[in-house]
Amino acid sequence: MQVTPYKDSEQQKKRQVEQMFDNIAPKYDFLNHFLSLGIDKLWRKKAIRILSDYKLDYLLDVATGTGDFAVAAAKLNPKQIIGFDISEQMLQVGRTKVKRLGLDQTIEFLKGDSEAMPFSNEQFDAITVAFGVRNFENLERGLAEFYRVLKPDGVVIILEFSKPRYFPMKQFYLFYFFKILPFIGGLVSKDSSAYSYLPESVMAFPDDQKFLSVLQKTGFSKTSQKRLTFGIATIYIAQK
Ligand SMILES: C[S@@+](CC[C@H](N)C(=O)[O-])C[C@H]1O[C@@H](n2cnc3c(N)ncnc32)[C@H](O)[C@@H]1O
Repeated sequence: MQVTPYKDSEQQKKRQVEQMFDNIAPKYDFLNHFLSLGIDKLWRKKAIRILSDYKLDYLLDVATGTGDFAVAAAKLNPKQIIGFDISEQMLQVGRTKVKRLGLDQTIEFLKGDSEAMPFSNEQFDAITVAFGVRNFENLERGLAEFYRVLKPDGVVIILEFSKPRYFPMKQFYLFYFFKILPFIGGLVSKDSSAYSYLPESVMAFPDDQKFLSVLQKTGFSKTSQKRLTFGIATIYIAQK
């Protein structure tokens, strides 16, 4: 059974996810940094540092949301970054941000579904995704699209929440994630389902070795992972 944001909704997961991010878009950046105590910025920076080892002219940031990962990647001076997302409201916040930062010549935002992307085969040197793949309706289909639009030797860097394994971080994390985060997130965003969905979707996501296996099954090689902050998040790296 798929974990979806709105339990009473009959809509497919994809539409629910789009609606959820449209709803929370105005508060997304604030809540993201507040609820993670700013650690999310450090995680993105770490992921971008890994990316700096690769050739990078054309970069695709899938599930770009409000564009924070795309903005961080701009430091590597690629020719072009496309930020791609299914939620128009998240993209609108991103467009305003990128204009304010003077990055609108480098970063372009496009709306669409990562499981059926409007790009040519082998168009990109690298793909980044932060906290996105967990929301896909069909994970394998999304990853197969990544593989298709990447150039040979292209790299994909995926940052995603994972589950800490050990006491006491595991217990603390579960308490924070299931009790505190939904309470504050619901209060501020006025969408309580969104912040209950977050921990539920993290629990349901095949993290760690399981995710590496999915990447390998899709055709990726040189797969590896770096666990961050006691395993609360993980950077997955794979090459075509
Ligand atoms: C948690 S946000 C992450 C945003 C951003 N990458 C960041 O680091 O803050 C997840 C994003 O994934 C997008 N998303 C989920 N499913 C998608 C799909 N099938 N295609 C494109 N975007 C999708 C959502 O609209 C949302 O903006």
